[in-house]
This record gives sequence, structure tokens and C-alpha cells, in this order.
Amino acid sequence: MTNICGPTEVLALLPQATEILKTTNADTKASNSRKLASAWKNFDLIDLGHSKAPDRPGRPSAPVLLRPRCVPRRRINRSPVGRIALLHALAHIELNAVDLAWDILVRFTESQKLPSAFINDWVSVADEEAKHFALLNNRLKDLGSHYGALPAHDGLWEIAIATANNFSARLAVVPLVLEARGLDVTPIMIQKLERSNDYKSAEILRIIHRDEIKHVAIGHKWFKWACRNSKSDPVAAFKMLVQRYYKGTLKAPFNRESRDRAGFTAEFYEPLSAK
Ligand SMILES: [Fe+2]
Ligand SMILES: [Fe+2]
Repeated sequence: MTNICGPTEVLALLPQATEILKTTNADTKASNSRKLASAWKNFDLIDLGHSKAPDRPGRPSAPVLLRPRCVPRRRINRSPVGRIALLHALAHIELNAVDLAWDILVRFTESQKLPSAFINDWVSVADEEAKHFALLNNRLKDLGSHYGALPAHDGLWEIAIATANNFSARLAVVPLVLEARGLDVTPIMIQKLERSNDYKSAEILRIIHRDEIKHVAIGHKWFKWACRNSKSDPVAAFKMLVQRYYKGTLKAPFNRESRDRAGFTAEFYEPLSAK
């Protein structure tokens, strides 16, 4: 059996996921996520165990976390400064996504009596988010920077806290608003990177985009599952939850092609778009 957390830890998925949530070093968090996912997929680890998610995940002392409005924006062009800022912002999102994937598992698996298919889906999401973080951080290092070199913001975890007691709200806001928004904006970033001749970074974003379609599909699948359980209409429930838990309106234009590939149809999000 694989124990990524040391000999005293329980050999079970949820306690080890909690250890990853508490891990402060970003590279260790990502590499242990990949190891834990691999152990689960290869049946080296078969017990679910019991655990309680921390209110906040462990984070490194850098980057400094600022209010979203205070994080400087930079243009993507041939100078690496703007591209480093973009890749750093994306690496920060991916590190949050690693924690969000383990958090949904630890926080909701037992309380919602979620089936093994849910666990397998979210272990694969955590694995891919950790892969995305590592790809971006390695690219930052190629460009002479690293994760932690620039400030970032804490907006994503504020949403996690707001939805900590509502499984359907977590699914509505994280995969179906935030990750779906990623599907809209990533192809534009890829184009800008290619126009700046940064084909290596563009290729990383292509990998991320392909994986994120799967994550939105997984979010949509389990949102509908939750709605079936509560006998609520998915479209109406999505509207109500987004209005309550995600204060902003949804920004058009939407990437309908990628959203459709995730099975996330326009009837859900078009009525919520800013006019
Ligand atoms: Fe990702
Ligand atoms: Fe994702």
C-alpha cells in the first residue's frame, strides 16, 4: 500500500486527502495529489476512511493574497512580463482547484452518501488539477519565475467557504460557473500566446482546456444527480443557487461549443448572463 503522508497516517483516501488540503508547500501538495490519485486508481488504497475538511487549506507564505481588485493586470505580448503574470494567475487558480477537488470529496462524500463513481470522478479531477499546476509552475520556471513570485487573490476560497454547507451550491458555482468560465476564456488566451510566439505556454493551456471540459461534464453530471435526489428541476435550481451564492452575473460571450461538449447546455446559463 502507498502512504504518501508518512507512517503514522491512516491508509485511507479521505484522511490522506485532508493531509493534502493541510499541506502548505504548493509543489508537495500537487505531487502528493498525483500520488494519492494514482494509489486510488491502482487500488493500492481502497479504504475511504473518515475525515473532516479544514476550513481553509494550507497555503505557502508566498504568494501574498490581495483583494481581487488589487491584483495588477498585465497585457500578454512578446515581453515575458505579461505572460508570466498570466501563467502565475492560472497556476494560482489551479492550486485552488486542487484544494477544491479534495475539499468536495472530504466535505461531502459521507454527508451526502455519495457513490463510488463520485469519488472516482473527483479523484481524477484532483489529479488533473495537480497536473495543471505542475505544468504551469514548470513553465514559469522556464521563463525565470515561479509560483509565489507575484501576488494573487483569495476570491476562489471565499466561494468555497460560502458553499461549504451546500453540496448543490458548491457544484453550481465551482464547476458550472467558474470552471465553465475557464472554457470561455482559455481559447482567447491560447490565441494571444500564439500571437506572442509562446507556443509552449499555448500548448499547456490546450491540455488544460481539454481536461476542463471533462471537469464541467463531471460537475454537471453530479449537479443533476443532486437535483434528482432533491426532486428539483436542474435549470431552476441552478438559477436560484447561482443568484444566491455567486453574486456576479455570468459574463457572455459563452463558448457554447466547449460547454456543449461538457453537456452543459445554454438553457442553464444564458438566462443568467449580463444583458
Ligand atoms: Fe485545471
Ligand atoms: Fe478543473
